[in-house]
Amino acid sequence: MDQFELKCIECGQVHDMDKPAYACAKCGNLLEVVLDPEVSKERLAKASHLRRPASVWRYRELIPIGRSSHIYSMSEGGTPLIKCDQLGADLGLKDLRIKFEGMNPTGSFKDRGMTVGITKAKELGMTVAACASTGNTSASLAAYAGLAGLKCVVLIPEGKVGLGKLAQAMMHGALVVSVKGNFDQALELVMSAADRLGMYVLNSVNPFRIEGQKTAAYEVCDQLGGKSPDYLYIPVGNGGNSAAYWKGFAEYEELGVVSGHPAIRGIQAEGAAPVARMLKDKSAVLTPVKNPDTVATAIRIGNPANWKKTVRALKESGGGASAVTDQLILKAQRAMATREGIFAEPAGAAALAGLMKDVELGNVDTSATIVCVSTGHGLKDPDIAVSQSAKPHTIGPSIKELEKLLGGRLR
Ligand code: F0G
Repeated sequence: MDQFELKCIECGQVHDMDKPAYACAKCGNLLEVVLDPEVSKERLAKASHLRRPASVWRYRELIPIGRSSHIYSMSEGGTPLIKCDQLGADLGLKDLRIKFEGMNPTGSFKDRGMTVGITKAKELGMTVAACASTGNTSASLAAYAGLAGLKCVVLIPEGKVGLGKLAQAMMHGALVVSVKGNFDQALELVMSAADRLGMYVLNSVNPFRIEGQKTAAYEVCDQLGGKSPDYLYIPVGNGGNSAAYWKGFAEYEELGVVSGHPAIRGIQAEGAAPVARMLKDKSAVLTPVKNPDTVATAIRIGNPANWKKTVRALKESGGGASAVTDQLILKAQRAMATREGIFAEPAGAAALAGLMKDVELGNVDTSATIVCVSTGHGLKDPDIAVSQSAKPHTIGPSIKELEKLLGGRLR
């Protein structure tokens, strides 16, 4: 076998990597890239990859892009894994870390997938890139499509996208289409229109996006000095990122770079928690949530396209899923901001909210190494931050007035 094959996750049917494909031509299930461990081990050993700067492309031997392809990159990845001693102490945990993916070029983890997905789009000779999005995918796609000289069409659910994300998609030159409906409906629309309108879809059903996003798991292990964490908490929306992390951890283990892998805990918002409900009910199939709702608009998704991949990831890793209230998400968001200086959007605080809930329930080994993935920057959704915070005080330009205000507040 070549180093990489594109395969159906259910029936194993092999597909041509040089044609756009998002689902199995035989059975309609999701596709994934599978790597040959022997060839990959050999290529990685020759590369001395850890001497390269930390980034997605540090791991290029494990990414299925042609060796002579031009790579469209803005130095994605290499984001900090922040040791959170204050938050850890608050929760009674010895070793808590936050992988702050808000530090990517467009402020979310999507950039890891987009650098690979857009590079693939160019390899395939596509000229138009498209997605449905709760905001971050559209911001990232718009930026990378511009970088690669592709036209870009983004479909967003009307009125439910953070202002920062909307500003990004507009500024980077995408054709922004507001759909009267939710994300699930917008995704269905873009998938069914793609072939007819000649658009390359860069939602997380695109297997090449996952290949970029999996590098975050390699990176976490490398940042821990060649070790896997014990637990990884991660928000689940459409289910692509949790599946990507699992792929990365499992590959790093299979290639012998690390021994072991974390239990992955997928966190959803209570109003949009079909995966958590499915695992709780021990059912074999996912029942979509018809009208998903949560303050964390990034994960306001009722019918996750990648549910099979994410359920497999949560089960095989020995983890599980959990649903948290909006109230707890906002509490976690504020705790990250005030105790560690990390400003995340609500979905980017959902993982910590899930951990807080598990701690409360007594379900956490307090001496474990625990990583929470914070998926997007707080500036993405300024309206939420402002509406949840105390209003600024207004005074005249006078010491007296300032003293009066501070004296009352600081003593
Ligand atoms: N966190 C943030 C900040 C997100 O933007 C998303 C997804 C997720 C978590 C969930 O990741 O879908 O791979 O399970 N945002 C997509 C978008 C849906 O359109 O930007 P997932």
